Amino acid sequence: MKVKDLILRPSKASQRDRQLLLAHLLGVKAPELYLKMEEEVPLQLLEKYEKSIKKLEKGYPLQYLIGEWDFYGRTFKVAEEVLIPRPETEFLVEKTLELLDSRRDYTGLEIGVGSGCIAITLLLERERLFMYGTDINPKALELTSINAENYGVSQRLKLLQGKDFEPVKGLRFDFVVSNPPYIPEGLWETLPEGVKLEGKDALIGGKKGWEFYERFAQQVGDFLKENGFFVLEIGHDQGQIVRELLRDYSPKIFKDYSGQDRVVIGWKS
Ligand SMILES: C[S@@+](CC[C@H](N)C(=O)[O-])C[C@H]1O[C@@H](n2cnc3c(N)ncnc32)[C@H](O)[C@@H]1O
Repeated sequence: MKVKDLILRPSKASQRDRQLLLAHLLGVKAPELYLKMEEEVPLQLLEKYEKSIKKLEKGYPLQYLIGEWDFYGRTFKVAEEVLIPRPETEFLVEKTLELLDSRRDYTGLEIGVGSGCIAITLLLERERLFMYGTDINPKALELTSINAENYGVSQRLKLLQGKDFEPVKGLRFDFVVSNPPYIPEGLWETLPEGVKLEGKDALIGGKKGWEFYERFAQQVGDFLKENGFFVLEIGHDQGQIVRELLRDYSPKIFKDYSGQDRVVIGWKS
């Protein structure tokens, strides 16, 4: 069977997913597939492809099938029970980078590193930055550690397991970033099965959804240096409640490129 036969064959899986899967198996970037249309797919790859397509058709995430996903122009390893990096989170990275002068030293904290995509991107974009990264999920810390190693930033990233600020008690930071879980508990059952594989810890914030911001508002003052700041991702409908919860930090809410409330920034004065 030729590459073009596989691409043109009808399937319940989207064409984009099928192309990315095939490109991954052939070890090329998706646009290069078009140069290989007339090539025969080796039998071993064909078998792997057929197995994977069956999973895709049942809603298994492409990202877990291929074991990696792109974020801010770089590829990160991903695995079940750890959040797949989302494009909207790149906005949080952009807003954070706007506040970090490349000529200055900073020590930052990320709460809930997941795959490590935020902390590692910040470290790669700012050479004089040192980051602490925490997570309650040991699998996330393992994955972050692998990704940090792959990108050569392990020496500037200290990983610790625990909830909220508990693992960094007694430390103070120039800034804190987090993309915490913010979906209300009641919505769990409505999520697609593929999304549920990312795990409750990564997605569900509690009964109301915004419990993390409540706890964060009470504690962040003790962990920021004077004039320190924080950048948090928020749910599209949480701008108002988060502004209220973080009122002591002159919060500013920013909309993402699709016009949704997405990030809150606050300062310790
Ligand atoms: C929405 S995911 C974000 C992952 C990654 N930062 C990203 O943006 O792709 C939230 C992460 O925070 C972790 N987490 C959830 N609650 C936490 C808490 N109270 N303290 C520390 N980590 C937490 C989860 O295990 C998960 O890895």
